[in-house]
Amino acid sequence: MNIYEPREDSFLLRKHLKKYAKGLVLDMGTGSGVQAKEASKYAKVIAVDINPDAIKHCKEEYSNIDFRKSDLFSNVKEEFDLIIFNPPYLPTEPKAPDVALDGGIEGWELIERFLKQAKDYLKKEGVILLLFSSFSKKEKVDSILKEENYKYKEIDKEHIHFEDLYVYEIKW
Ligand SMILES: C[S@@+](CC[C@H](N)C(=O)[O-])C[C@H]1O[C@@H](n2cnc3c(N)ncnc32)[C@H](O)[C@@H]1O
Repeated sequence: MNIYEPREDSFLLRKHLKKYAKGLVLDMGTGSGVQAKEASKYAKVIAVDINPDAIKHCKEEYSNIDFRKSDLFSNVKEEFDLIIFNPPYLPTEPKAPDVALDGGIEGWELIERFLKQAKDYLKKEGVILLLFSSFSKKEKVDSILKEENYKYKEIDKEHIHFEDLYVYEIKW
């Protein structure tokens, strides 16, 4: 499997970690480890990915971070001060399936699965930083957040190529 090469979305999310990373941080879908590496400057980090190649690569690269293979929270039991997620957020592309990009048939289904589970892994004052794209349908993400009773605000936005990228601060 390929490992997701950091790009605009990765860098947009990463620039907020200095402010938000503290205590114990979970980097969900770590890929190359770009978010985990930055967060580890300020906090203790656990980082997970469903892609075993990403985990193997990251374990060889960074010794101060706890990397685990996990489908979302399946291999996580801790509670976190911060959960970071730059998810696969594109609608399924049947001709070229890619676990780093495929967010579900409409693009938001994995985000929904994540948000339904994430609240159980947050400390009382814990925060989620979620990046997503206009391709994963902002109105749908907003409605999932409301249904799941999260409080949230947009803290950053960037227009690239044919899409808008959003960063949300989410609390439970
Ligand atoms: C868009 S990439 C982001 C990678 C990296 N965090 C970054 O910011 O560059 C999404 C990552 O989520 C991982 N992923 C996809 N589905 C997952 C799942 N169900 N559980 C955990 N990780 C998953 C992919 O393997 C990929 O590494």
